[in-house]
Amino acid sequence: MTKYAFVLGSNWLLSIAELLIYIQDRGFEGTLVDQSRNAVIVDIKQRLDVEQLMEMQSALGGCYKVGKVIWDYDIDVPLAAYPARKAADKEMLKEIRKCPWLKIVWPRSRGKKIKFGISTYPIFNGGFPINFRRFTRGMDDQVKKLLLENGARRADYFAYDEPDRRVSSRLNISLWPKTIARNNLLAQPNAEILAIFSEHKLYIARTRFVYDSMLQQYRDESRPFVSAEISTSPKICRTLLTLAGARPGDTILDPFCGTGTLLMEAALLGMKCIGVDIDGDQVQGARSNMKWLVRDLGERLDYDIFKGDSRRLSSLVKKQVDAVAFEPLLGPIYKEVPPIVEVEKTIKELTTLYRQVLTEIATILRPDGRVAMTIPVINTQGEPISVKFKELTMNTGMTLYRMLSSESIKTRSDIDPRLKIRPERELIPERKKGQLVQRAIIVLEK
Ligand SMILES: C[S@@+](CC[C@H](N)C(=O)[O-])C[C@H]1O[C@@H](n2cnc3c(N)ncnc32)[C@H](O)[C@@H]1O
Repeated sequence: MTKYAFVLGSNWLLSIAELLIYIQDRGFEGTLVDQSRNAVIVDIKQRLDVEQLMEMQSALGGCYKVGKVIWDYDIDVPLAAYPARKAADKEMLKEIRKCPWLKIVWPRSRGKKIKFGISTYPIFNGGFPINFRRFTRGMDDQVKKLLLENGARRADYFAYDEPDRRVSSRLNISLWPKTIARNNLLAQPNAEILAIFSEHKLYIARTRFVYDSMLQQYRDESRPFVSAEISTSPKICRTLLTLAGARPGDTILDPFCGTGTLLMEAALLGMKCIGVDIDGDQVQGARSNMKWLVRDLGERLDYDIFKGDSRRLSSLVKKQVDAVAFEPLLGPIYKEVPPIVEVEKTIKELTTLYRQVLTEIATILRPDGRVAMTIPVINTQGEPISVKFKELTMNTGMTLYRMLSSESIKTRSDIDPRLKIRPERELIPERKKGQLVQRAIIVLEK
Protein backbone atom coordinates (compact mmCIF):
# COMPACT_ATOMS: atom_id res chain seq x y z
CA MET A 1 0.00 0.00 0.00
CA THR A 2 1.27 3.47 -0.85
CA LYS A 3 -0.32 6.65 0.42
CA TYR A 4 -0.80 9.45 -2.08
CA ALA A 5 -1.81 13.01 -1.34
CA PHE A 6 -4.09 14.85 -3.74
CA VAL A 7 -4.57 18.61 -3.52
CA LEU A 8 -8.17 19.30 -4.43
CA GLY A 9 -9.82 21.96 -6.54
CA SER A 10 -12.22 24.51 -5.06
CA ASN A 11 -15.18 22.10 -5.25
CA TRP A 12 -13.71 19.58 -2.82
CA LEU A 13 -16.57 17.08 -2.94
CA LEU A 14 -16.64 16.99 -6.71
CA SER A 15 -12.85 16.62 -6.77
CA ILE A 16 -13.10 13.66 -4.37
CA ALA A 17 -15.85 11.98 -6.44
CA GLU A 18 -13.81 12.41 -9.60
CA LEU A 19 -10.66 11.02 -8.00
CA LEU A 20 -12.39 7.95 -6.55
CA ILE A 21 -14.17 7.22 -9.82
CA TYR A 22 -10.91 7.51 -11.74
CA ILE A 23 -9.15 5.10 -9.35
CA GLN A 24 -11.99 2.61 -9.56
CA ASP A 25 -12.35 2.82 -13.35
CA ARG A 26 -8.64 2.11 -13.84
CA GLY A 27 -8.93 -1.03 -11.72
CA PHE A 28 -6.77 0.27 -8.86
CA GLU A 29 -7.73 -0.51 -5.30
CA GLY A 30 -7.79 2.79 -3.48
CA THR A 31 -9.25 3.89 -0.16
CA LEU A 32 -9.70 7.43 1.03
CA VAL A 33 -8.20 7.32 4.51
CA ASP A 34 -8.05 10.96 5.56
CA GLN A 35 -9.27 14.29 4.33
CA SER A 36 -9.38 18.01 4.76
CA ARG A 37 -11.17 20.69 2.76
CA ASN A 38 -8.02 21.12 0.69
CA ALA A 39 -6.57 17.66 0.21
CA VAL A 40 -7.17 13.94 0.62
CA ILE A 41 -4.94 11.01 1.45
CA VAL A 42 -5.63 7.87 -0.57
CA ASP A 43 -4.09 4.50 0.13
CA ILE A 44 -3.52 2.71 -3.18
CA LYS A 45 -2.73 -1.00 -3.17
CA GLN A 46 -0.91 -1.02 -6.50
CA ARG A 47 2.35 0.86 -6.99
CA LEU A 48 1.66 3.49 -9.61
CA ASP A 49 4.43 4.12 -12.10
CA VAL A 50 5.42 7.56 -13.34
CA GLU A 51 3.22 7.33 -16.45
CA GLN A 52 0.18 6.21 -14.52
CA LEU A 53 0.56 9.06 -12.06
CA MET A 54 1.14 11.59 -14.81
CA GLU A 55 -1.90 10.39 -16.74
CA MET A 56 -3.97 10.57 -13.58
CA GLN A 57 -2.94 14.13 -12.80
CA SER A 58 -3.65 15.32 -16.32
CA ALA A 59 -7.04 13.60 -16.53
CA LEU A 60 -8.34 15.02 -13.25
CA GLY A 61 -9.94 18.45 -13.60
CA GLY A 62 -10.31 18.75 -9.82
CA CYS A 63 -6.79 17.92 -8.70
CA TYR A 64 -4.00 20.50 -8.55
CA LYS A 65 -1.18 18.38 -7.27
CA VAL A 66 -0.42 14.76 -6.60
CA GLY A 67 2.30 13.69 -4.21
CA LYS A 68 3.59 10.61 -2.48
CA VAL A 69 3.26 10.62 1.31
CA ILE A 70 6.66 10.09 2.94
CA TRP A 71 5.99 10.84 6.60
CA ASP A 72 3.24 11.66 9.04
CA TYR A 73 3.01 13.23 12.48
CA ASP A 74 0.32 13.04 15.06
CA ILE A 75 -1.52 16.38 14.95
CA ASP A 76 -0.52 17.05 18.59
CA VAL A 77 3.04 17.73 17.44
CA PRO A 78 2.31 20.73 15.15
CA LEU A 79 -0.52 21.83 17.47
CA ALA A 80 1.99 22.23 20.29
CA ALA A 81 4.89 23.46 18.14
CA TYR A 82 2.99 26.14 16.21
CA PRO A 83 -0.09 27.03 18.29
CA ALA A 84 -2.18 29.93 17.05
CA ARG A 85 -2.64 31.68 20.35
CA LYS A 86 -0.23 30.15 22.88
CA ALA A 87 3.51 29.96 23.34
CA ALA A 88 5.21 27.14 21.46
CA ASP A 89 6.15 23.94 23.28
CA LYS A 90 9.94 23.80 22.95
CA GLU A 91 10.17 20.00 22.94
CA MET A 92 7.60 19.64 20.17
CA LEU A 93 9.24 22.40 18.18
CA LYS A 94 12.52 20.49 18.43
CA GLU A 95 10.75 17.31 17.38
CA ILE A 96 9.23 18.83 14.24
CA ARG A 97 12.47 20.59 13.34
CA LYS A 98 14.31 17.28 13.11
CA CYS A 99 12.67 16.70 9.71
CA PRO A 100 13.55 12.98 9.55
CA TRP A 101 11.87 12.82 6.13
CA LEU A 102 14.56 15.04 4.64
CA LYS A 103 16.75 11.99 3.94
CA ILE A 104 13.97 10.43 1.87
CA VAL A 105 13.70 13.49 -0.37
CA TRP A 106 17.42 14.28 -0.49
CA PRO A 107 19.44 11.16 0.26
CA ARG A 108 22.50 12.93 -1.19
CA SER A 109 22.53 16.69 -0.93
CA ARG A 110 26.27 17.23 -0.69
CA GLY A 111 27.57 19.71 -3.26
CA LYS A 112 24.13 20.21 -4.82
CA LYS A 113 22.32 23.42 -5.62
CA ILE A 114 18.78 22.84 -4.41
CA LYS A 115 15.63 24.86 -4.96
CA PHE A 116 12.61 23.86 -2.95
CA GLY A 117 9.24 25.03 -1.64
CA ILE A 118 6.98 24.00 1.21
CA SER A 119 3.28 24.22 0.44
CA THR A 120 0.95 24.01 3.41
CA TYR A 121 -2.66 22.90 3.12
CA PRO A 122 -4.63 23.61 6.30
CA ILE A 123 -7.63 21.54 7.25
CA PHE A 124 -10.09 24.38 6.57
CA ASN A 125 -9.44 27.90 5.44
CA GLY A 126 -9.37 29.30 8.97
CA GLY A 127 -10.72 28.10 12.31
CA PHE A 128 -7.98 25.66 13.38
CA PRO A 129 -5.64 26.52 16.27
CA ILE A 130 -2.36 26.29 14.35
CA ASN A 131 -0.41 29.25 13.06
CA PHE A 132 0.01 27.92 9.52
CA ARG A 133 2.01 30.87 8.27
CA ARG A 134 4.55 30.54 11.07
CA PHE A 135 4.67 26.78 10.51
CA THR A 136 5.39 27.23 6.78
CA ARG A 137 8.08 29.87 7.26
CA GLY A 138 9.58 27.84 10.09
CA MET A 139 9.78 24.76 7.88
CA ASP A 140 11.26 26.76 4.98
CA ASP A 141 14.06 28.05 7.20
CA GLN A 142 14.65 24.74 8.91
CA VAL A 143 14.85 22.71 5.68
CA LYS A 144 17.28 25.27 4.24
CA LYS A 145 19.43 25.11 7.38
CA LEU A 146 19.50 21.29 7.42
CA LEU A 147 20.30 21.04 3.71
CA LEU A 148 23.24 23.40 4.13
CA GLU A 149 24.40 21.47 7.20
CA ASN A 150 24.21 18.29 5.11
CA GLY A 151 26.64 19.84 2.64
CA ALA A 152 24.37 21.33 -0.05
CA ARG A 153 26.20 24.04 -2.03
CA ARG A 154 23.04 26.17 -2.09
CA ALA A 155 19.52 25.79 -0.74
CA ASP A 156 16.90 28.33 -1.78
CA TYR A 157 13.24 28.24 -1.09
CA PHE A 158 10.30 29.97 -2.66
CA ALA A 159 8.13 32.06 -0.36
CA TYR A 160 4.67 33.30 -1.12
CA ASP A 161 4.71 37.03 -1.71
CA GLU A 162 2.07 36.92 -4.41
CA PRO A 163 -1.31 37.56 -2.77
CA ASP A 164 -4.19 35.20 -3.49
CA ARG A 165 -6.13 37.19 -6.05
CA ARG A 166 -9.28 35.13 -5.68
CA VAL A 167 -9.73 35.38 -1.91
CA SER A 168 -7.61 38.12 -0.35
CA SER A 169 -8.31 36.88 3.18
CA ARG A 170 -6.97 33.41 2.37
CA LEU A 171 -3.55 32.51 3.72
CA ASN A 172 -1.10 32.28 0.89
CA ILE A 173 1.12 29.48 2.05
CA SER A 174 1.18 27.18 -0.94
CA LEU A 175 2.91 27.52 -4.27
CA TRP A 176 0.95 27.93 -7.49
CA PRO A 177 1.45 25.20 -10.09
CA LYS A 178 2.84 27.87 -12.41
CA THR A 179 5.53 28.87 -9.87
CA ILE A 180 6.50 25.22 -9.57
CA ALA A 181 6.69 24.78 -13.35
CA ARG A 182 8.58 28.04 -13.99
CA ASN A 183 11.20 27.23 -11.39
CA ASN A 184 11.51 23.60 -12.32
CA LEU A 185 10.79 22.56 -8.76
CA LEU A 186 9.84 18.99 -9.62
CA ALA A 187 13.16 18.09 -11.23
CA GLN A 188 15.82 16.52 -8.99
CA PRO A 189 17.45 17.72 -6.80
CA ASN A 190 14.71 20.36 -6.50
CA ALA A 191 11.47 19.50 -4.74
CA GLU A 192 8.15 20.76 -3.56
CA ILE A 193 7.09 19.40 -0.18
CA LEU A 194 3.41 19.25 0.71
CA ALA A 195 2.44 19.69 4.36
CA ILE A 196 -1.14 18.50 4.58
CA PHE A 197 -3.12 18.90 7.77
CA SER A 198 -6.10 16.78 8.70
CA GLU A 199 -7.93 16.69 12.02
CA HIS A 200 -5.63 13.97 13.35
CA LYS A 201 -2.43 14.14 11.36
CA LEU A 202 0.10 16.21 9.51
CA TYR A 203 1.20 14.44 6.33
CA ILE A 204 4.43 15.23 4.53
CA ALA A 205 4.38 14.38 0.85
CA ARG A 206 6.68 14.99 -2.07
CA THR A 207 4.91 16.43 -5.11
CA ARG A 208 5.15 14.29 -8.21
CA PHE A 209 2.96 16.18 -10.70
CA VAL A 210 1.02 19.43 -10.79
CA TYR A 211 -1.80 20.74 -12.92
CA ASP A 212 -0.56 22.40 -16.07
CA SER A 213 -2.14 25.78 -15.49
CA MET A 214 0.08 27.62 -17.97
CA LEU A 215 -1.01 25.40 -20.82
CA GLN A 216 -4.63 25.78 -19.85
CA GLN A 217 -4.35 29.56 -19.70
CA TYR A 218 -2.69 29.55 -23.10
CA ARG A 219 -5.53 27.46 -24.58
CA ASP A 220 -8.18 29.63 -22.94
CA GLU A 221 -6.67 32.84 -24.21
CA SER A 222 -5.37 31.81 -27.61
CA ARG A 223 -8.15 29.67 -29.06
CA PRO A 224 -9.98 31.56 -31.80
CA PHE A 225 -13.56 31.16 -30.52
CA VAL A 226 -14.74 31.78 -26.96
CA SER A 227 -18.15 32.77 -25.71
CA ALA A 228 -17.89 34.01 -22.14
CA GLU A 229 -21.60 33.49 -21.60
CA ILE A 230 -21.77 29.85 -22.55
CA SER A 231 -18.27 28.33 -22.45
CA THR A 232 -17.78 25.69 -19.76
CA SER A 233 -14.52 25.73 -17.81
CA PRO A 234 -11.90 23.29 -19.12
CA LYS A 235 -11.44 21.89 -15.62
CA ILE A 236 -15.13 21.02 -15.30
CA CYS A 237 -14.95 19.46 -18.76
CA ARG A 238 -12.12 17.17 -17.60
CA THR A 239 -14.09 16.29 -14.47
CA LEU A 240 -17.18 15.44 -16.53
CA LEU A 241 -15.09 13.24 -18.81
CA THR A 242 -13.65 11.33 -15.84
CA LEU A 243 -17.07 10.95 -14.23
CA ALA A 244 -18.40 9.54 -17.51
CA GLY A 245 -15.57 6.98 -17.47
CA ALA A 246 -13.91 8.28 -20.65
CA ARG A 247 -10.41 6.96 -21.33
CA PRO A 248 -7.77 7.67 -23.98
CA GLY A 249 -8.80 5.99 -27.25
CA ASP A 250 -12.53 6.13 -26.39
CA THR A 251 -15.12 7.84 -28.56
CA ILE A 252 -16.84 10.51 -26.52
CA LEU A 253 -19.90 12.61 -27.32
CA ASP A 254 -20.91 16.14 -26.31
CA PRO A 255 -24.48 16.67 -27.60
CA PHE A 256 -24.48 20.38 -26.57
CA CYS A 257 -20.91 21.15 -27.61
CA GLY A 258 -21.14 24.97 -27.93
CA THR A 259 -17.65 26.36 -28.45
CA GLY A 260 -16.13 22.88 -28.15
CA THR A 261 -14.30 23.25 -24.82
CA LEU A 262 -15.07 19.67 -23.78
CA LEU A 263 -14.11 18.35 -27.22
CA MET A 264 -10.75 20.10 -26.97
CA GLU A 265 -10.03 18.69 -23.54
CA ALA A 266 -11.06 15.20 -24.67
CA ALA A 267 -8.87 15.43 -27.78
CA LEU A 268 -5.91 16.49 -25.62
CA LEU A 269 -6.48 13.42 -23.47
CA GLY A 270 -6.27 11.21 -26.56
CA MET A 271 -10.00 10.63 -27.09
CA LYS A 272 -11.97 10.64 -30.33
CA CYS A 273 -14.71 13.24 -30.16
CA ILE A 274 -18.15 13.87 -31.56
CA GLY A 275 -19.87 17.19 -30.97
CA VAL A 276 -23.39 18.32 -31.80
CA ASP A 277 -24.91 21.78 -31.46
CA ILE A 278 -28.13 23.29 -32.76
CA ASP A 279 -26.56 26.71 -33.33
CA GLY A 280 -24.59 27.11 -36.58
CA ASP A 281 -22.32 29.81 -35.13
CA GLN A 282 -21.30 27.55 -32.25
CA VAL A 283 -20.64 24.70 -34.68
CA GLN A 284 -18.39 26.94 -36.81
CA GLY A 285 -16.68 28.19 -33.66
CA ALA A 286 -16.11 24.70 -32.28
CA ARG A 287 -14.70 23.58 -35.65
CA SER A 288 -12.31 26.54 -35.78
CA ASN A 289 -11.18 25.79 -32.21
CA MET A 290 -10.46 22.18 -33.10
CA LYS A 291 -8.59 23.20 -36.26
CA TRP A 292 -6.54 25.60 -34.17
CA LEU A 293 -5.73 22.80 -31.73
CA VAL A 294 -4.65 20.51 -34.58
CA ARG A 295 -2.31 23.22 -35.91
CA ASP A 296 -1.03 24.01 -32.46
CA LEU A 297 -0.31 20.42 -31.53
CA GLY A 298 0.89 19.48 -34.98
CA GLU A 299 -0.99 16.20 -34.65
CA ARG A 300 -4.02 14.68 -36.34
CA LEU A 301 -7.09 14.67 -34.12
CA ASP A 302 -10.08 12.43 -34.61
CA TYR A 303 -13.27 14.51 -34.38
CA ASP A 304 -16.65 15.22 -35.99
CA ILE A 305 -18.86 18.19 -35.25
CA PHE A 306 -22.45 18.18 -36.51
CA LYS A 307 -25.02 20.94 -36.67
CA GLY A 308 -28.33 19.56 -35.47
CA ASP A 309 -30.86 19.02 -32.73
CA SER A 310 -29.75 16.51 -30.11
CA ARG A 311 -33.35 15.48 -29.61
CA ARG A 312 -32.73 13.58 -32.86
CA LEU A 313 -29.21 12.48 -32.02
CA SER A 314 -29.46 8.97 -33.44
CA SER A 315 -30.11 10.38 -36.93
CA LEU A 316 -26.87 12.43 -36.69
CA VAL A 317 -24.47 10.11 -34.91
CA LYS A 318 -24.20 6.75 -36.61
CA LYS A 319 -21.72 5.02 -34.37
CA GLN A 320 -21.59 3.73 -30.84
CA VAL A 321 -19.99 6.03 -28.29
CA ASP A 322 -18.16 5.01 -25.11
CA ALA A 323 -18.98 7.98 -22.90
CA VAL A 324 -21.11 11.12 -22.98
CA ALA A 325 -20.26 14.32 -21.12
CA PHE A 326 -21.82 17.75 -21.43
CA GLU A 327 -23.17 21.00 -20.12
CA PRO A 328 -26.57 21.40 -21.75
CA LEU A 329 -28.66 24.47 -22.32
CA LEU A 330 -29.22 25.73 -18.76
CA GLY A 331 -32.16 28.05 -19.48
CA PRO A 332 -32.29 31.83 -19.77
CA ILE A 333 -29.61 34.12 -18.35
CA TYR A 334 -31.41 35.97 -15.56
CA LYS A 335 -30.47 39.53 -14.65
CA GLU A 336 -32.56 39.53 -11.46
CA VAL A 337 -34.02 36.88 -9.19
CA PRO A 338 -36.89 35.35 -11.18
CA PRO A 339 -40.35 34.52 -9.78
CA ILE A 340 -40.93 30.87 -8.85
CA VAL A 341 -43.62 30.25 -11.47
CA GLU A 342 -41.32 31.39 -14.26
CA VAL A 343 -38.52 29.11 -13.05
CA GLU A 344 -40.87 26.15 -12.62
CA LYS A 345 -41.91 26.52 -16.26
CA THR A 346 -38.28 26.72 -17.40
CA ILE A 347 -37.31 23.65 -15.38
CA LYS A 348 -40.23 21.71 -16.83
CA GLU A 349 -39.18 22.58 -20.39
CA LEU A 350 -35.55 21.75 -19.68
CA THR A 351 -36.49 18.41 -18.07
CA THR A 352 -38.38 17.50 -21.26
CA LEU A 353 -35.41 18.50 -23.43
CA TYR A 354 -32.91 16.54 -21.30
CA ARG A 355 -35.14 13.47 -21.24
CA GLN A 356 -35.52 13.47 -25.00
CA VAL A 357 -31.76 13.77 -25.43
CA LEU A 358 -31.01 11.09 -22.81
CA THR A 359 -33.41 8.68 -24.53
CA GLU A 360 -31.49 9.23 -27.77
CA ILE A 361 -28.15 8.88 -26.01
CA ALA A 362 -29.22 5.50 -24.61
CA THR A 363 -29.53 4.18 -28.18
CA ILE A 364 -25.95 5.03 -29.18
CA LEU A 365 -24.12 4.61 -25.87
CA ARG A 366 -22.13 1.43 -25.28
CA PRO A 367 -23.95 -1.02 -22.96
CA ASP A 368 -22.08 -0.20 -19.72
CA GLY A 369 -21.46 3.44 -20.70
CA ARG A 370 -22.07 6.51 -18.53
CA VAL A 371 -23.30 10.04 -18.98
CA ALA A 372 -22.01 12.94 -16.87
CA MET A 373 -23.85 16.23 -17.16
CA THR A 374 -24.57 19.48 -15.39
CA ILE A 375 -28.10 20.57 -14.57
CA PRO A 376 -29.25 24.05 -13.57
CA VAL A 377 -30.18 24.98 -10.00
CA ILE A 378 -31.99 28.28 -10.36
CA ASN A 379 -32.28 30.75 -7.49
CA THR A 380 -35.79 32.10 -7.08
CA GLN A 381 -37.52 34.41 -4.65
CA GLY A 382 -38.14 31.22 -2.63
CA GLU A 383 -36.07 28.00 -2.62
CA PRO A 384 -33.69 27.27 -5.51
CA ILE A 385 -35.38 25.01 -8.08
CA SER A 386 -33.76 22.22 -10.05
CA VAL A 387 -34.49 19.25 -12.24
CA LYS A 388 -35.57 16.20 -10.22
CA PHE A 389 -33.36 13.27 -11.06
CA LYS A 390 -36.25 10.77 -11.04
CA GLU A 391 -38.13 12.82 -13.63
CA LEU A 392 -34.93 13.27 -15.59
CA THR A 393 -34.25 9.56 -16.00
CA MET A 394 -37.83 8.23 -16.24
CA ASN A 395 -38.25 5.99 -19.33
CA THR A 396 -34.95 7.13 -20.83
CA GLY A 397 -33.05 3.85 -20.48
CA MET A 398 -30.64 5.54 -18.06
CA THR A 399 -30.37 5.19 -14.28
CA LEU A 400 -28.60 7.11 -11.56
CA TYR A 401 -24.92 6.31 -10.90
CA ARG A 402 -23.79 7.28 -7.42
CA MET A 403 -20.53 9.16 -7.57
CA LEU A 404 -19.26 8.52 -4.04
CA SER A 405 -18.92 4.85 -3.26
CA SER A 406 -18.97 4.14 0.50
CA GLU A 407 -16.58 1.20 0.02
CA SER A 408 -13.73 3.49 -0.96
CA ILE A 409 -14.21 6.01 1.85
CA LYS A 410 -12.80 4.82 5.18
CA THR A 411 -12.29 7.96 7.20
CA ARG A 412 -12.95 8.15 10.95
CA SER A 413 -16.53 8.32 12.12
CA ASP A 414 -15.86 11.18 14.58
CA ILE A 415 -14.88 13.51 11.75
CA ASP A 416 -15.81 17.23 11.86
CA PRO A 417 -19.28 17.70 10.27
CA ARG A 418 -17.76 20.10 7.73
CA LEU A 419 -15.73 17.21 6.36
CA LYS A 420 -18.44 14.57 6.25
CA ILE A 421 -19.07 12.93 2.89
CA ARG A 422 -22.52 11.47 2.31
CA PRO A 423 -22.01 8.62 -0.16
CA GLU A 424 -25.75 8.31 -0.74
CA ARG A 425 -26.02 11.72 -2.38
CA GLU A 426 -27.34 11.78 -5.93
CA LEU A 427 -26.01 15.15 -7.09
CA ILE A 428 -22.97 17.28 -6.36
CA PRO A 429 -23.40 21.05 -6.41
CA GLU A 430 -21.08 23.12 -8.57
CA ARG A 431 -21.47 26.72 -7.47
CA LYS A 432 -20.50 29.78 -9.44
CA LYS A 433 -20.15 32.81 -7.22
CA GLY A 434 -22.69 35.54 -7.79
CA GLN A 435 -24.74 33.77 -10.46
CA LEU A 436 -28.47 33.23 -10.31
CA VAL A 437 -28.21 29.99 -12.23
CA GLN A 438 -26.08 27.58 -10.22
CA ARG A 439 -25.31 24.05 -11.33
CA ALA A 440 -25.25 20.52 -10.03
CA ILE A 441 -23.53 17.50 -11.50
CA ILE A 442 -25.23 14.18 -12.05
CA VAL A 443 -23.94 10.90 -13.47
CA LEU A 444 -26.15 8.31 -15.15
CA GLU A 445 -25.46 4.83 -16.43
CA LYS A 446 -27.07 2.72 -19.07
C1 LIG B 1 -24.10 25.75 -22.04
S1 LIG B 1 -23.86 25.67 -23.74
C2 LIG B 1 -22.55 24.53 -23.90
C3 LIG B 1 -21.23 25.15 -23.68
C4 LIG B 1 -20.06 24.32 -24.12
N1 LIG B 1 -19.78 23.25 -23.18
C5 LIG B 1 -18.83 25.22 -24.28
O1 LIG B 1 -17.87 25.09 -23.51
O2 LIG B 1 -18.84 26.07 -25.14
C6 LIG B 1 -25.23 24.84 -24.37
C7 LIG B 1 -25.24 24.67 -25.87
O3 LIG B 1 -26.36 23.85 -26.20
C8 LIG B 1 -26.83 24.20 -27.49
N2 LIG B 1 -28.18 23.64 -27.66
C9 LIG B 1 -29.34 24.08 -27.13
N3 LIG B 1 -30.35 23.26 -27.47
C10 LIG B 1 -29.82 22.27 -28.24
C11 LIG B 1 -30.36 21.10 -28.87
N4 LIG B 1 -31.64 20.81 -28.79
N5 LIG B 1 -29.51 20.30 -29.54
C12 LIG B 1 -28.18 20.60 -29.62
N6 LIG B 1 -27.63 21.69 -29.04
C13 LIG B 1 -28.43 22.50 -28.34
C14 LIG B 1 -26.70 25.71 -27.49
O4 LIG B 1 -26.61 26.23 -28.81
C15 LIG B 1 -25.41 25.94 -26.68
O5 LIG B 1 -24.32 26.08 -27.54
